[in-house]
Amino acid sequence: RTDTVCVVGSINADLSVATEHLPQPGQTVRGGGLVIGSGGKSANQAVAASRIGASVSMVGAVGHDEHGGILRGALEREGIDTSRVQSFADVATGTALITIDHEGENTIVVSPGANGVLCDRDIELARETIAQAAVLGLAFEVDDRVLLTAARIAHSSGGRVVLNPSPYRTPHPDLLAMVDLLVLNELELADMVGGDLAAKSWEDICRVLLERFGIRHTVVTAGARGAMVLNHADGTGPDAQAHAVRIAPITVSAVDTTGCGDAFLGAVLAGLADGRTVVDAAHTAAAVAAYAATRRGAQDSYPTSAELQALLDSLDHDDAA
Ligand code: RIB
Ligand code: NA
Repeated sequence: RTDTVCVVGSINADLSVATEHLPQPGQTVRGGGLVIGSGGKSANQAVAASRIGASVSMVGAVGHDEHGGILRGALEREGIDTSRVQSFADVATGTALITIDHEGENTIVVSPGANGVLCDRDIELARETIAQAAVLGLAFEVDDRVLLTAARIAHSSGGRVVLNPSPYRTPHPDLLAMVDLLVLNELELADMVGGDLAAKSWEDICRVLLERFGIRHTVVTAGARGAMVLNHADGTGPDAQAHAVRIAPITVSAVDTTGCGDAFLGAVLAGLADGRTVVDAAHTAAAVAAYAATRRGAQDSYPTSAELQALLDSLDHDDAA
């Protein structure tokens, strides 16, 4: 076993345009220049982890087209192992159509392309890469069979499985049974748990996640409001301890929040592979996500360790002043 991170999932070309206000259905609005960047939730996680020092391999697919070549090259320049990124003929590289408003909020429509063609046999080809990783990152821009196959390989070889159920769909129960850490935002949590979350304490939510889904460890991200780490100690029944730890937000002025969730995930993967606790990894992840919000794009906005440190130093400076 190594301290490597493996990410299995989507790779997209992000076509983004900034506009004052996001259009309503039926409305046309004028935007700024078209920016084409590297994205896809899983590729974003891989890049975020790699920038802060993790050794990362990516398993996924692009189309045999111009975007596919560019995106593969971008991952390689980060030092990410792309030997298990396939190029499929006759299908386009995944594409995301993104609009960003003046507050940095966005809407995204994803055309899966090659990500949707990826199947369990492709994952079998990457068995060794997945099996030797300490941590496996999964998100929901590929089919369940892909996720299940990857999770089985990691789980049976002692790797930790981290799931980000985004964009949300009901997680397959067999997948949840193999998940060591769930990382999701409040909307995804509400979809998953149902009912009125505001009426529940974090400890109650932690218990519901264990009783209904078998999940013991969760991070709930809340963007500019920070995050909560929910841990359920070993054992079941009313005596088992549910424990919630708040991760304070890092306040920045947001330019573009595209891919901030993925930045958070990537930093969590890097932290776990480095042997750190979930709480410790989540602190770093909150800073990585905040940094990403201050710059345009997804991968283009992620910090190196040095850039992250500079942000943290500037905040300390503000506190002292
Ligand atoms: O989470 C942000 C990502 O979602 C973008 O990079 C886009 O590609 C979509 O997959
Ligand atoms: Na950004």
